Amino acid sequence: RSHLPTCAMWSQLSSSLISTSRSRSSASSGASRHSVRRSYATKTSQSARRRPRRVVFNVPGSDQRKLQKALGLDLDVMVLDFEDGVAMNQKPLARQLVAETLQTSEFGRTERTVRINSIKAGEDLISMDLAALKPVLNKVDSILIPKVESAADCDYVTSFLESQGNKSTRIFACVETARGIVSLEDICRKSNRLDAIVFGSEDYSADVGITRTPGLEELLFARSAVVTSCAAYGIQSIDLVCIDFKNNDQLIKECQSGSNLGFDGKQAIHPNQIPLIYQHFKPPQHTIDLAQRIMNEYKSHLDKGVGAFAIDGKVIDMPMIKWAEKVLFKANLL
Ligand code: COA
Ligand code: MG
Repeated sequence: RSHLPTCAMWSQLSSSLISTSRSRSSASSGASRHSVRRSYATKTSQSARRRPRRVVFNVPGSDQRKLQKALGLDLDVMVLDFEDGVAMNQKPLARQLVAETLQTSEFGRTERTVRINSIKAGEDLISMDLAALKPVLNKVDSILIPKVESAADCDYVTSFLESQGNKSTRIFACVETARGIVSLEDICRKSNRLDAIVFGSEDYSADVGITRTPGLEELLFARSAVVTSCAAYGIQSIDLVCIDFKNNDQLIKECQSGSNLGFDGKQAIHPNQIPLIYQHFKPPQHTIDLAQRIMNEYKSHLDKGVGAFAIDGKVIDMPMIKWAEKVLFKANLL
């Protein structure tokens, strides 16, 4: 081809196609969710790392009632916490309860993730955390490392897993300091078990001296940095917690913003947040329908040797086809 549409043209094109499609469809609720995501379909070697991680739900590991309650929820990811959701004098209890829960409970489709204490919190805490996981490591799908600032933090956990002969447990890195943000490239490029970067907004704000506002403008740089680094390395990105957990309007605004920026999912801390997050972090039906239409037309035109064609009076060529592939890849994961 002599030229491809620029990103701006593509974005305009997909916007106008989506609005055409919406007006044709009865399902017209929800925010515009056609943001350009990473090339899911072209990174098939990485698809095993990709499972739906729309809701990443935190449960304090020391709270037996909440642990039991969480087991009854429909979750993509349950994070059993040893870190900041647990008081210092309750850490031994958290280790014991989490190990028992992992050993004895049925998690169904839910990913079992344990948030350990940060590497820089000191050898004592982390070695006790990892020791508690040793007997149940085959039931730990992923380990979430908080306050990651370099690839060495992930290497520490990878070495532990390797020393145990473990090949399957994945790593999530929570980036929540200024150093973490400026080291994103290093973390994403070098950490080979890394499946997701989780953005920790409150620790980040405290570290940088940010005053939080409901509009989240003060976090735009860091959130965009997370999504961009993840996209560059085929890693999933998980957005901040809505701390105002009784405020659904705020949660909806945050979900729309995170989804439009390109995040794959969002953290939750309260059961009431779960349905709204699911709703916003999967492609809406009208987007899936449009993507399906584009792919069907593409295949039939390709057979005739035609690369560019029109749908509803709008030109469709390679960038839109890649967009449609990504939408369908994501939809088929769910
Ligand atoms: N996991 C499991 N169950 C939870 C839960 C959670 N994170 N948050 C609330 N619940 C349960 C409560 O136990 C309660 O169940 P019950 O009625 O059977 O007792 C129900 O949901 C309603 O909870 P509610 O009374 O509205 O809230 P709360 O005052 O019990 O708890 C928080 C509010 C914020 C303390 C609680 O949601 C929490 O601890 N969240 C996790 C915080 C966290 O992990 N922070 C660190 C990571 S960012
Ligand atoms: Mg934190």
